[in-house]
Amino acid sequence: MERYLTPDELDKALRRDVADGLSAVPKSLPPKWFYDERGSTLFEEITRLPEYYPTRRERAILVERAAEIAAVTGAESLLELGAGSGEKTRLLLDALAGTLHTYVPVDVSGDFLAVATRQIAADYPDLAVRAVVADYERHLHLLPTGGRRLIAFLGGTIGNMPSAERIGFLGAVRASMTEGASLLLGADLVKDVDRLVAAYDDAQGVTAEFNRNVLHVINRELDADFVPAAYEHIARWDPAHEWIEMRLRAAGRQSVSIGRLDLRVDFAAGEEMRTEISAKFRRDGLMRELDAAGLALAEWWTDHAGDFSLLLAKPR
Ligand code: AVJ
Repeated sequence: MERYLTPDELDKALRRDVADGLSAVPKSLPPKWFYDERGSTLFEEITRLPEYYPTRRERAILVERAAEIAAVTGAESLLELGAGSGEKTRLLLDALAGTLHTYVPVDVSGDFLAVATRQIAADYPDLAVRAVVADYERHLHLLPTGGRRLIAFLGGTIGNMPSAERIGFLGAVRASMTEGASLLLGADLVKDVDRLVAAYDDAQGVTAEFNRNVLHVINRELDADFVPAAYEHIARWDPAHEWIEMRLRAAGRQSVSIGRLDLRVDFAAGEEMRTEISAKFRRDGLMRELDAAGLALAEWWTDHAGDFSLLLAKPR
C-alpha cells in the first residue's frame, strides 16, 4: 500500500477542519470525517435502505453497461477514487477482464482500503492491485498514470462538493489524463423533493446515526465531549443550489470542550451546523461543468427510472 497521506497528516487535517468549521458562522463540518469504521458500516447500511435509491440505481446501470464501458475505454488500468466496499468495482473488473492489468483503489482511510483490497487481490490473481492512501482532492497528480486508464468516481460523491470545487476537481482529473484515458462518473439527478428528502432522512434513523457519527469521531480523535444524542438530524432540500443539506441541530444549549484543540464551542438552543451537501444534477448543468474542465461527454446513461446517471467523458 502506498501512502501519500500519513496518519499524522490526516490528524492535522481533522484538527484544521474542526477548528475552522466550529469557529465559522454558521458552523459546519466537511463530510469526509463521517467515514471511520463505524461510519463506513453505517453508510453500507444506508445503501441497503428502501429510501436510499442511488446505490441500487447506479449498480443497475453498471450491470447493464459494463460491456459497453469496456468496449469504449479498452481500459488497461482502473483508478478508483474513493473506493468503497468494492461491490460495484467487481462489476467493472469482470467486464474489463480482457484488457485490464492494474487496479488502483484510492481512499483516505487506509484501514478500510486494506480490507477491501485484500479480498479483491485474492479473487483476481492476475490483476496487479496497488492500493493508494491519498486525498483525491489533493493528490491526483501523484497517482500512477500510463496505459489506457479509466478513472472511476462513483456513488454520486461528486455531489458532496459545491460547484466551484467540482470544476476545480474535474479540471485536476482532466489534467491527470493522458491520451486514451476516460472518466467514469456517477451523479445523482434532480427528482421529486419528497423522494430526495426521504433518501437522506430514512424511517429507521440510520442516516441520522450516520450524521451524528461525525461527533463520535471528533470525541474520540480530538478528546471532545459532544453528547451526540443532543443533536437532531436534519435533511433539507435547497432548491436554489439543488442540493440536499444535512445538518445537526442542537436540541438545547450545548457547551462543548475539544481537548486537543484547547477550544470551547457553544451552541445556542436550536442552532444548526451543516455536515454535508449532496448536490443533484441535470444533464445540461453537468455538461457545462465537464466542458469547463476540458472534458467532453462520450456516453450518458441513466437507469430505467431516470434517477441516477453514469457518464463517460474523455479529454477534449
Ligand atoms: C456516498 C457521498 C454519495 O451523498 O448520497 C448518504 C453519502 N450521506 N446518506 C450521498 C450519504 C447521507 C452519499 N455519498
